[in-house]
Amino acid sequence: MGFPKDFLWGGATAANQYEGGFVEDGKGPCIFDYATGATATTKREFHTSPQPGAFYPNQIATDFYHHYAEDIGLMAEMGFKVFRMSISWPRIFPHGDELEPNEPGLVFYDHVFEECKKYGIEPLVTIDHYETPLYLTLNYNGWYNRKLVDFYYRYCEVIFERYKDLVKYWLTFNEINCIAIGDPYMAGGCKAVEGVSMDQITYQAAHHQFVASAKAVKLAHEKYPQFKMGMMLGGLFFYPNTCHPLDMRAFQESNYQQLYFSDMQCRGYYSRRAKALLKKKGVELVMEPGDEELLAQGKVDFMTFSYYMTINASGMEQTDEYNLPGTGMKAPKNPYLTATDWGMEINPEGLRFFLNLFYDRYQIPLLISENGLGALDVLEDDHTCHDSYRIDYLRRHIEVMKAAIDEDGVDLIGYTSWGCIDCVSAGTGEMRKRYGYVYVDRDDQGNGTLNRYRKDSFYWYKKVIASNGEDLD
Ligand code: BG6
Repeated sequence: MGFPKDFLWGGATAANQYEGGFVEDGKGPCIFDYATGATATTKREFHTSPQPGAFYPNQIATDFYHHYAEDIGLMAEMGFKVFRMSISWPRIFPHGDELEPNEPGLVFYDHVFEECKKYGIEPLVTIDHYETPLYLTLNYNGWYNRKLVDFYYRYCEVIFERYKDLVKYWLTFNEINCIAIGDPYMAGGCKAVEGVSMDQITYQAAHHQFVASAKAVKLAHEKYPQFKMGMMLGGLFFYPNTCHPLDMRAFQESNYQQLYFSDMQCRGYYSRRAKALLKKKGVELVMEPGDEELLAQGKVDFMTFSYYMTINASGMEQTDEYNLPGTGMKAPKNPYLTATDWGMEINPEGLRFFLNLFYDRYQIPLLISENGLGALDVLEDDHTCHDSYRIDYLRRHIEVMKAAIDEDGVDLIGYTSWGCIDCVSAGTGEMRKRYGYVYVDRDDQGNGTLNRYRKDSFYWYKKVIASNGEDLD
C-alpha cells in the first residue's frame, strides 16, 4: 500500500512567472508581461504597453529561458518524475492569429523537452497558463471572441505535432474556473463591453474555452493516442462557516461555482444544474451548431487541481471577514486553521475532502497540479535556506494524500508542488513570496544574480521521492 510505484512526483511552474526572455527570439508579449507588482497598498496593474518608470517582474521572472539546463538538472537531482510547465503561447504565435508559428520559439521547447528526456522526467504541459497573447486581448477582446477557438486550435496542432514524441501529459487550461473570479482579464484576456454584463462576458468566454479544450482533446484522442489530456481546476474550495442551514447552502453553492467548470471538462455537457446557474446569472450562451457534440467528445482523461487553502462560506451577514488574496473576495476566518503570511488558510485535512469529492464525482485519475507554501525565505550568508515551515506544510499534505489513496481508494497519480524553483507570484507579482525547493537570487525590484541555491526542503523532497512518499521526516 502507499503511493503507487509509478506515482508522478514533481513540481510545477508557468512560463509567464518563470521563463523570462519575454521578447527573445521573436516572442510576443502575453498579458502578464506588462503587469506591475502589487505593493502594500496597491494591486497588480495590467498595462497594455510599457509605461515610463514601471517595473514588470514577469519579463525576466527567474529566467528559466537561460537556466533551463541547470534547473532541469536540479529537478533531476531531486528525483523528479514529472515537471509541470507551460508553453508560452505568444512564444509560438507572437500575436496569436498568425498562420505560421515562430520557429525559434519551438526550438526553445525542443531543448527543454530533450533535457527532460535525458533524465527520464515527463513534462506535464499546460497549453495556456494565463498566457493569452496580448495582441489577442487588444484586437479581439480575448476569449470573449469565438475566433480564439480557432487560434488556440492551430496552436495545439503545431505543438502536438512538434512534441508528440516528447510530451505525453497535457492540460488544456490552467485553473479554468478562475475566469469567473473577479476580473476575467487574467484568465480570459477580456475586458468590459458596453451594454453587456460581466457575467455574460465571463461565461461566454468560458464556453469558448470549453469548446477549444474539447477540440484539443478530440484532436489528441484521434491523432495522438499516446497523449493523456487533463483539465485543471483552481483551488477555490469552500468549507461551511458553521452547520447553520444557510451556511451549508452557501458552502454547496460556492463549491458548485467551481464544479461548473470541472463538470463540463470531465462530463462533457451543460447539466440542468449548470443551465440553472447561467439562468440565475442572466447569461444567454451563444452556441454554434455542433458545440454540444464537440463538448461530449472532448472529455478529459484525468483531472488536476491546485490546492493551497480552504475558504469559509457563509449564508449569513458577517462582521469580521478577511480579504482573500488575489481574488477580491472576503470570507469569515476559520477559527481552527492558521494562515500563511498572505492570508491563505492552511487545511491539509481539507485536501482529503476534496480528493474524495472529485474522485466520487468523476471517477477518473486525479493529480494535484499545485500545492505549496508561499513564504518569506531567508538566504543565509553561506547560501543555505532553512525552510522547515515549508517542509512541515508539504509533509502534512502528503500524509493526507497517502491516507486518501490507502484508506479511501482515491486514484491519485501525481503531485506537482507549485513554484518548485522560485518564481514570480501570480497574485502579487512579488518575488519574496517564494514556494520553491530552490532559492533564486532575485528581489522585488529586479536586483540579484539569478543564482540558484538549494533550500533545506530540496534535500527533504529528494528523500520523499526516493522513498516514494514513505520517508516524510
Ligand atoms: C495558482 C496559479 O493560482 O496559484 C499560479 O495557477 C500561482 O499561477 C499559484 O502562482 C500561487 O499563487 P500566487 O499568487 O501565490 O503566485
